[in-house]
Amino acid sequence: MIQALRGMKDIMSPDNARFTHIIETASRIAARYGYEYIETPLLEETALFKRSVGESSDIVGKEMYQFIDKGGHDVCLRPEGTAGVVRAFIQNKLDKKGGTHRFFYHGPMFRYERPQKGRLREFHQFGCESFGEVSVYEDFTMIMMIKDIFDALGIGYTIKINSLGCPECMPGYRERLVAHLHDIEDGLCEDCQRRIATNPIRVLDCKVESCRTLLQSAPLIVENLCETCDSEFNRLTALLKSHNLPYELDPKLVRGLDYYTRTAFEFVSSEIGAQSAIAGGGRYNRLVEFLDGKPTPAVGFALGIERIMELVKMPEIGREGLYLGVMEPKAVETILQIAHKKRQSETVFTEYHKRSLKAHLKAADRLGAKRCAVIGEDELAAGEIWVKDLETKEESRVAIETFE
Ligand code: HAM
Repeated sequence: MIQALRGMKDIMSPDNARFTHIIETASRIAARYGYEYIETPLLEETALFKRSVGESSDIVGKEMYQFIDKGGHDVCLRPEGTAGVVRAFIQNKLDKKGGTHRFFYHGPMFRYERPQKGRLREFHQFGCESFGEVSVYEDFTMIMMIKDIFDALGIGYTIKINSLGCPECMPGYRERLVAHLHDIEDGLCEDCQRRIATNPIRVLDCKVESCRTLLQSAPLIVENLCETCDSEFNRLTALLKSHNLPYELDPKLVRGLDYYTRTAFEFVSSEIGAQSAIAGGGRYNRLVEFLDGKPTPAVGFALGIERIMELVKMPEIGREGLYLGVMEPKAVETILQIAHKKRQSETVFTEYHKRSLKAHLKAADRLGAKRCAVIGEDELAAGEIWVKDLETKEESRVAIETFE
């Protein structure tokens, strides 16, 4: 039997209700913050991700679903949503237009990672990207929006933030960090030793215990920021404080994608095991120009839908809809007529096959219908329908003509 690929899942009942509830809630809140929906292709040129997420990142280096298509193009299933949105932003000349542009999206992302709890090869993100606003107020507003989304979904979290500096302060910091890493190189894990040359900043968030101990004395980015980055970061944390939004300063938070500048943040849950990041994002002021657009500041985030599915508190919904069944096969066409009329205003479940009343009531109950209506031989002859309200348990027989 053919099975779904490892690390890829079907989303079906009962989880589908949680999945759509997350997307609907987040979309509604993003729209309230002035974001508009954008859909970009799942498949993009591989070069897009190499130039944005970064060749030295694990995502591009090890995890891409990359192949040559029939036309000989080097393409890749998107591992994340930001790069495609930035490409669309530039391709549609919005960078030349100026002003602010805010987009939200949701859909599948693909990373060839080792599957485990909270880590899939195909997973879904909801994300937002905001272009054209350099002010730290935008970073703050985005963090508030994510807070609103998680609050509306009933999910608890801790916010971790850091600043990743800018082209002015990062090169000097990088040099200091690399010098330190060379001093402790022999004790570092293989991955970290390799990263000293390719991506030294990533060494800071290595999860290997012996590396963590050695890194305790490493120079920290926040202590090496230029004046502008430092004051912007202070303004952001002051805003969070004044709005009573608790956060943890995490000087080793570096994120796994190379495009960030200044603000970087993660929302973390203590209830889902090792893969605890439920959302992540930050500022990426240089990405638009890296992808040949007009320099445009930007900030964004994405949340992992599968990671939060089990945490969502679903709203109580009572019984809903009408179940229509027959105990006399000749009544099926009448049922179809009623169903079409009723579907203009409510959910209707139809059963075309003759069943006992008991079986119909059981099926209506299982489907969560509010009312169960059935036509048998007697009802058909009299032009009537038998109806039971499954909440109030009230039963009646009414003329089909007047059935409301
Ligand atoms: P990211 O941190 O790589 O950021 O992913 C965002 C979220 O996607 C994570 O916090 C996590 O919840 C979820 N996620 C990531 N990988 C997996 C996986 N293998 N299985 C299940 N869930 C996963 C980005 O993707 C950036 N594009 C976010 C961003 C938008 N930054 C700026 N704009």
